[in-house]
Amino acid sequence: MDRAVKRDRRQAFTPLNTTPFWSTAAEPHRFPRLDRDLQVEIVVVGAGITGLTTAYLLVLGGHSVAVFDRGRVAERDSGHTSAHLTMVSDRRLSSLVRSWGRDRARSVWDAGLTAIERIESIVRAEQIDCDFQYVPGYLHAVDGDAERDGGPKAFEDEASLAIDLGFDAAFVNDMPFIGGPAAAFERQGRLHVSRYLSGLARAIVERGGRIFEHSEIEGAEAKPRSVRVNGKTVSCDRVVLATHMPIVGLASKSDTARLQSKLAPYTSYVVAGRIGKGEVPDALFWDTADPYHYCRIQPASSHDVMIFGGEDHKTGQASHTAGCLKRLEETAAGLVPGIDITHRWSGQVIETPDGLPYIGEITPCQFTATGFSGNGLTFGTLSGMMAVDWIEGKANEWRSLFDPGRRVTSGGAWIYLKENADYPLYRVRDWLQEKARSVDAVQPGEGQILEYRGTKAAAFRDDQGVLSILSAACTHMGCLVAWNDTERTWDCPCHGSRFDTNGRVLAGPATEPLSPLDQSE
Ligand SMILES: Cc1cc2nc3c(=O)[nH]c(=O)nc-3n(C[C@H](O)[C@H](O)[C@H](O)COP(=O)(O)OP(=O)(O)OC[C@H]3O[C@@H](n4cnc5c(N)ncnc54)[C@H](O)[C@@H]3O)c2cc1C
Ligand code: FES
Repeated sequence: MDRAVKRDRRQAFTPLNTTPFWSTAAEPHRFPRLDRDLQVEIVVVGAGITGLTTAYLLVLGGHSVAVFDRGRVAERDSGHTSAHLTMVSDRRLSSLVRSWGRDRARSVWDAGLTAIERIESIVRAEQIDCDFQYVPGYLHAVDGDAERDGGPKAFEDEASLAIDLGFDAAFVNDMPFIGGPAAAFERQGRLHVSRYLSGLARAIVERGGRIFEHSEIEGAEAKPRSVRVNGKTVSCDRVVLATHMPIVGLASKSDTARLQSKLAPYTSYVVAGRIGKGEVPDALFWDTADPYHYCRIQPASSHDVMIFGGEDHKTGQASHTAGCLKRLEETAAGLVPGIDITHRWSGQVIETPDGLPYIGEITPCQFTATGFSGNGLTFGTLSGMMAVDWIEGKANEWRSLFDPGRRVTSGGAWIYLKENADYPLYRVRDWLQEKARSVDAVQPGEGQILEYRGTKAAAFRDDQGVLSILSAACTHMGCLVAWNDTERTWDCPCHGSRFDTNGRVLAGPATEPLSPLDQSE
């Protein structure tokens, strides 16, 4: 059938704009694509908060550095965050103490505080106009309902434990905004993340560092040490992987696969909307729902913007992702009935079996930083500080705690097995399922997995009616990708790789695109 005829009888879906609030409110810097061979001391892969902080601290220390990103600066998860700066980890302090003991639990929270202070000092030193502000944070009951989650005592215990470990905390019986009991924590922070990262990028270049966009690391050699970028060779002494999900780089494929198998990417959703000035206090809020909701404001001159997130699920495992955003909007409107939602977006957080990030040397001359859970702005900043100590051969108090080579704890072993059961399950289940629909059934703006010429295909029809048909086999380890109707991406349910509708990799661990299938008649 002629495509033009198909187009006539189809009703196009109105695509949801999923541009994060941060990118519409900041003017990004642009950087060149690498087009020649280069020699530097340190290659940093990834220009999110982890890579940019690392590069900034390295150039301050007089090192020669080049940052490479396959897309644009701060375009991926660092640009999709809600930008709470906090020591309060996703895993409760009481749970950290049970798993790790008091000293190491204190050290995890100290890492957050240290990172917030470092961000503040960078903002001041570089005069970055990013609305950095110290604010309190509240861990509170869902809807302020005192009888849920163990009643007020649960919050009282959490606050007492924090005080006992030396943190500035208090129990609040009737907290502002939500009401009900909460554990309150002083000297947490918030900022405008794109403006901060843009300021960091500017400072790197002003101090002689190099940043390259649209410059993907395609491979690496140990001898002589180098990486391949856009077909060019970059010789270097060391590599820092700041790719959120680690790529192979200088490590062996098996070591990388072992680390990747300990990482579970979850998709988290955010909505932002205008509210009246002062309607929500300038603070950070997290409830105890599972998955939990998080909330803060970003002040503007005539109004405030409420930034509200949650609805997390394992990447690639929700069948109707637009529903997650709809529920989130409804919950936000329940809290502030007049909210005028202007932005909706999602991104990935990466969980580990024991709740702590992996930051450190994974193979000689290569450092990696990942598994930040919902604390990636602070752990990403700390990673930069740790990477500099690693390069300069200095001791670092978090080295053994966050060592990527540490063993999975007995408590984490069950989570490790549960998360990894997805691989064999989805690998077999989806390939066996019969989905023998014709590509004609795919509506404009829609993606479907279907049987096409004897294989599983990922078919997408754009708003003009043009069809793209790709192999549905994820190029990481062969699971079938799933359609994400909010972001219009193909997401893998096994280890969270994401691809755009042309098959290009948006997020690893996959590094190769989905292959196009032959559409000739
Ligand atoms: C919805 C949401 C809300 C969040 N809220 C918070 C919060 O309130 N507070 C908090 O602390 N954290 C939060 N997080 C987590 C935090 O945003 C992330 O953990 C953090 O931004 C990760 O930073 P990163 O620099 O390590 O990774 P990214 O920002 O993802 O950067 C990695 C970069 O590496 C690049 N890359 C990958 N592979 C290659 C390659 N082969 N070659 C070249 N470049 C490559 C990518 O293009 C990307 O730009 C949130 C995350 C999400 C999604
Ligand atoms: S099979 Fe591992 S991400 Fe797809």
